[in-house]
Amino acid sequence: MIRTVTDLVTCRGELDGRGKQLVFTNGCFDLLHVGHVRYLQEARGLGDALVVAINSDNSVRELKGEGRPLNSASERAEVLLGLESVDYVIVFDGKRATSLIEAIRPHIYAKGGDYTAETLNSEEKEALALAGSRIEILSHVPGKSTTALLAAANEQSGQGGIKLGVLGSGSGTNLESILAAIKDGTLNAEVAIVISDVEDAGILERARDHGVESVYVDPGERANALAMSSQKQIKQRLREANVELVVCAGFMKILREPVLESFAGRVINIHPSLLPRHKGLRAWEQALHAGDAVSGCTVHFVTDELDSGEIIRQQEVAVEQGDTPESLHARIQEAEHQLLPMIIGEFAAGAFK
Ligand code: GRF
Repeated sequence: MIRTVTDLVTCRGELDGRGKQLVFTNGCFDLLHVGHVRYLQEARGLGDALVVAINSDNSVRELKGEGRPLNSASERAEVLLGLESVDYVIVFDGKRATSLIEAIRPHIYAKGGDYTAETLNSEEKEALALAGSRIEILSHVPGKSTTALLAAANEQSGQGGIKLGVLGSGSGTNLESILAAIKDGTLNAEVAIVISDVEDAGILERARDHGVESVYVDPGERANALAMSSQKQIKQRLREANVELVVCAGFMKILREPVLESFAGRVINIHPSLLPRHKGLRAWEQALHAGDAVSGCTVHFVTDELDSGEIIRQQEVAVEQGDTPESLHARIQEAEHQLLPMIIGEFAAGAFK
C-alpha cells in the first residue's frame, strides 16, 4: 500500500516514542537491480524501519526524459514492497523530496553511493539539517544501474552503440566522461571520431590514448571563426566515420550549414551556464560577476547562433560563498560529466525524436 504523509508522520512519532529510528531514502527505482536491493538492505540496517520515497511518473519523466518511467509509480511501489527491506513506500512529485523530508523528519537519510556529502542537493541538505536527520552515504555497486541495464538490453536486441563524433578545442574532460560511461556499461555508444580546431588540444591526446581516431582540422585564417572549407572538412570526416550524433564538448567555434544541414537535429552542445543566461566565453565567471546564487550547465541542440538552440536539459550547481571562478567552474564541470553522457544515452534510446 502506498502511504500518505500523515501515515508516515504518525509512524515516525511512534518509532521515536519507542526509541527506534526511521530511515528515509528516495529515488526513481524504475527497473530494480541488484544494486538497488543491496543498497535498500544496507539502508534498512541503519535503523528500525525504512521508507522509500519514489518519484511520481511525471517527475521521473522530468528527470530522465520521455520514455521513462518504464514502470508506473504503483507498479514500482508494488515491486519495492515485495522486498524484505522496505517497510513503507510514498510517492512524491517534483525533482526533490525536500517537502517530504521536512514533514516526516526521518532520523536517518540514506543516499546511494554515487553521491557524496558534497554532491547532495543543497536544498535537500538544508531540509535535512532542519529536520535533524543524519545523512548516510551507502556503498555503491559499480556498473549496476538502470541506465546500464537499458544499454545492455539495447545491445542484445542489436539496437545499441550509437556512433558519436566529438568536437572539442580544450582539455577533453567531457570526452573522458563519455568514454568512461561507455567503458563501465552505463552508455551504449562508440566514439567514432574526435575532431579539434586546436592542433595540440588535450582532447586529441586523450582520444589517441583511448585508441580513438583523432583529427585536427585547420580552422583557417580568422581567429574566432571556422572557414567554410574547414566546415566542409569536418562534415566530410564525420560522414566518413558514420557518425550518428555530433557532440560539441568545449568546441569553441560556431558550426554552420554544411555540418548542421548534414546532421540536422543531431548536433548537441554542453555549455557551462543555465542558458539562456551567460552565453559565450567563461560563463562561470559571468555568473559570479552577476551575483547568481545558482549556476550550472546546459545541454542543447546546436544552431548557427551562439549557445542558442533548443534546451534539452540543465543541471543546477549552487554558487557557494567564497567561490572563485576556478572553484565554481570545477563543480560545474563535475555536473557536465554526469549530464552529457546521460543525455547521449537518452538520445540513443530515441528520447528526442
Ligand atoms: C566545458 O566547461 C564546456 O562546458 C565548455 O568548455 C569546457 C570544455 O571542457 N564549453 P573539456 O575540454 O571537456 O575539459
